[in-house]
Amino acid sequence: MNETLERWSTRRAFILAVTGAAVGLGNIWRFPYITGENGGAVFLLLYMAFVLLLGLPMMMAEILIGRAGRRSPMQSLGYLAGQAGASRHWRWLGLFGAFTVFCILSFYSVVSGWSIEFLVAAVNGDFVGRSATEIGADFDAFLADPGRMTFNHTLFLMMTMLVVAAGVAKGLERLNNLLMPLLYLLLLVLAGYAATTDGFAPALAWLFLPDLAAVTPLVMLQAMGHAFFTLAVGACALMAYGAYMPEHQSLSRAVVAVAVLDVTVALLAGIAIFSVVFAQGLDPGEGPGLMFVTLPVAFADLPGGPLWLSLFFLLLLLATWTSSINLAEPMVAILQGWGLRRKAAAAVVGVVVWALGMLSVLSFSSLAESRVLFGMNPFELVSSIPPEVFLPLGGLLIAIFAAWVMPEETSRRALDAGPNGFRVWRALVRWVSIPLTLIVLLAGLI
Ligand code: TRP
Repeated sequence: MNETLERWSTRRAFILAVTGAAVGLGNIWRFPYITGENGGAVFLLLYMAFVLLLGLPMMMAEILIGRAGRRSPMQSLGYLAGQAGASRHWRWLGLFGAFTVFCILSFYSVVSGWSIEFLVAAVNGDFVGRSATEIGADFDAFLADPGRMTFNHTLFLMMTMLVVAAGVAKGLERLNNLLMPLLYLLLLVLAGYAATTDGFAPALAWLFLPDLAAVTPLVMLQAMGHAFFTLAVGACALMAYGAYMPEHQSLSRAVVAVAVLDVTVALLAGIAIFSVVFAQGLDPGEGPGLMFVTLPVAFADLPGGPLWLSLFFLLLLLATWTSSINLAEPMVAILQGWGLRRKAAAAVVGVVVWALGMLSVLSFSSLAESRVLFGMNPFELVSSIPPEVFLPLGGLLIAIFAAWVMPEETSRRALDAGPNGFRVWRALVRWVSIPLTLIVLLAGLI
């Protein structure tokens, strides 16, 4: 297939689309809860280090492949491999990535469905006057109700697949970018409010004073996986966006801007959530329900609480929407490449993801105690193995392809960072990102 001629209309449009993919549940829901489960500051420190040493350079690697190939991920990989005289089997990396985000989307949709439930509850004022314990109990009751969970999961996935089918993601992205600053502002207000509570000082200490003795291979593996997850790297999903990059735009600058934004959203959410946790004597290691229990409690204390809380869940939903579109895109693009029309491809992906997602829905009720693999139930399995193992593995192969396989001239041009910038990037990928990912993966898996 030939090069695509389509381009993002402006440089900003590209940055905004990548930010839309990056900022989502990973920042506001997943980051606080796995940080809570992994002892706080140590996890945060490792995660930041991995964002810098692996996330950023690999994000550049992934996007530059798309930019150089100017085709869908599988086709770009195959085409560039051919150009370099390497095996065309590299294109299967695109399929592996699509499979990874496919698994991720299955639980992502379920958890985004929780936001729908909470949005409705917030609008109804259901949290007014409720204590942290009561809100926790209500949440547990909701999780134990497969009917309501299924409804929300179905609704969210339909919202996603409709946008994907219509191919109007850019419209949604624009809306998202209009409203994202508002989400940011709300998180700032929340963190500011957190600073006035008794929980603020213990929260900061817990988040920023690492106990290095707590570093284990498994904590490292999880921190690495989260760095990939939050930046949307390692599954060729950003590669697709790179194909539409304009000729003259600095990839490194764009990627740094996105990463800074992404990490600050997570930090603000973390500060807000853990202040409430410590002020209310909750358990930081509470698990996937952490954000859903603490934020309603935090907002309940603020003047105009229900209104702010409704707005917050609305914005969160919008942020997860643009992320889930990015998650669905690789699989749909591949089916399209195999001859399906876009609408049919979106329908097929939607139905299969929905069915897989049902296993996650039931993991909070009838399947809670089932041990499918490695002692985990289906939700625990899809929400840990694809982000923590598949994404780093995909990222590793993407990095090897960009830094070792592609002809130097091609990758230098696609990075567009000047000869010195290119040398620094390639040295970092070759001698830091690739070996480090390999070591952490092996250490964590053995
Ligand atoms: N980064 C998103 C989040 O933090 C999730 C996401 C979107 C993603 N697209 C991706 C993760 C591609 C991995 C690969 O919520």
